[in-house]
Amino acid sequence: MTKEIYVIIMAAGEGKRMKGELPKVLHGVCGRPIIDYILCGANAVSKNKPILIVGHGEKELREYVGSRAVYARQENPLGTGHAVMMAKPHIEGKSGYAVVLAGDTPLIRAESLEAMIEYTIENGYSVVGLSTKVEDPTGYGRIVRDENGDFKRIVEHRDATDEERAIDEINASMYCFKIDSLLSSLGNLKDDNVQGEYYLTDTLSIIKENGEKVGIYCLEDHTEILGVNTREQLGDAMDIMRRRINKRHMENGVTLVDPENTYIDSDVTIGVDTIIYPGNVIEGDTIIGSECVLYQNNRIVSSRLGDRVEVGPFAYIRPNSDIDNDAKIGNFVEVKNSYIGKKTKASHLVYVGDADVGENVNIGCGAVFVNYDGNKKYRTIVGDNCFIGCNVNLVAPVTIEDDSFIAAGSTITKDVPKGALGIARSRQENKEGWVFERKND
Ligand code: UD1
Ligand code: CA
Repeated sequence: MTKEIYVIIMAAGEGKRMKGELPKVLHGVCGRPIIDYILCGANAVSKNKPILIVGHGEKELREYVGSRAVYARQENPLGTGHAVMMAKPHIEGKSGYAVVLAGDTPLIRAESLEAMIEYTIENGYSVVGLSTKVEDPTGYGRIVRDENGDFKRIVEHRDATDEERAIDEINASMYCFKIDSLLSSLGNLKDDNVQGEYYLTDTLSIIKENGEKVGIYCLEDHTEILGVNTREQLGDAMDIMRRRINKRHMENGVTLVDPENTYIDSDVTIGVDTIIYPGNVIEGDTIIGSECVLYQNNRIVSSRLGDRVEVGPFAYIRPNSDIDNDAKIGNFVEVKNSYIGKKTKASHLVYVGDADVGENVNIGCGAVFVNYDGNKKYRTIVGDNCFIGCNVNLVAPVTIEDDSFIAAGSTITKDVPKGALGIARSRQENKEGWVFERKND
């Protein structure tokens, strides 16, 4: 596309219907705040930094978005039209197009925005609005068309007559405007509606009345339009996004035993032929290799798994863990900020925190890498081919050299040299007849 495009994102609203403290567009959907999806959409259609309209929750929003946007402030949320007026200094005197997006519609695809823009430019429209048809249009603005099916106006749910409420084509709150047409129509907006707000939607009929061409680009996939105004809609958005993510992984050759109960964040990568059982929650920028098996109910956060790694059931792999090929992290094992070497096994009831563990190590049941003295954290190093017995405590900082063997029940506080037996527990004593003697007392 040769025309210059500026993207305006409206995110200054109060988000009252969410009933909480967190600004609406910072709520997470599959591991990313809603606004992140919109910013990515904006970047896909324009090289210029998006203009973010902020107001309510401005501080948190600026903190999160940082230099990824330029900002315009809307002191009082007097409506979507008023919000866009705040972007005026950024687009005045520019030629080309302004793409206006709502900050609360995370499911929109970049391809759909591109299609809307292309449709606008190729057909010489002064503005095109995105729409879709839904079964239950309650709450959305409706696209009112004339007897020829041409665009007439958008009416908000609250301002609509019963007849208008029966219309199933809704306004997505995403538009492509010629900058000149947008600016002149904003100047003519009035707040004569039920909410006493300046509706951006009215600019379309103003532009039409001015004799310019106004179009509607109707999207087939209505899920792209979903606006998040309530927690229920947030749940719907998560559901739709989750299905999309899971579908992508299945298309790439990953087996999801129960896709409805598999929760994978949007930035996770998974190799081919990996099998994932129900209840797995895979978060952040986790990378999982090929042919892994994740049994039921694990949580894996921002970590890397090599190929053929087995995890779970009920394991917790915390951030910055790196589990190398053919390793096994079994049931009720927790790993944090650690490297686990190839073919190493921690099969049951283990905590590994802040450690570098070599290849082919066996970590016995109940072993604990004691990394915290209540004040600071320390690292443990375990070499290759070591055997860590059951119920061992490795008190960091400590180094267990290659090929060594730690006896069960030992609390190890000193380094263990290569090939040595480390044993640190009191010797067993058997007191013959002690039980019977006590009974006779
Ligand atoms: C809006 C549309 C409606 C459409 C729906 C789609 C208007 C008048 N209505 O309604 O036709 O069907 O989106 O999701 O445009 N905002 C500001 N400043 C304001 C008001 C809102 O920045 O003064 C921002 C909000 O933060 C939000 C976006 O604009 O991100 C949309 O506002 P919202 O109040 O959610 O509009 P809807 O009632 O959903
Ligand atoms: Ca909305």
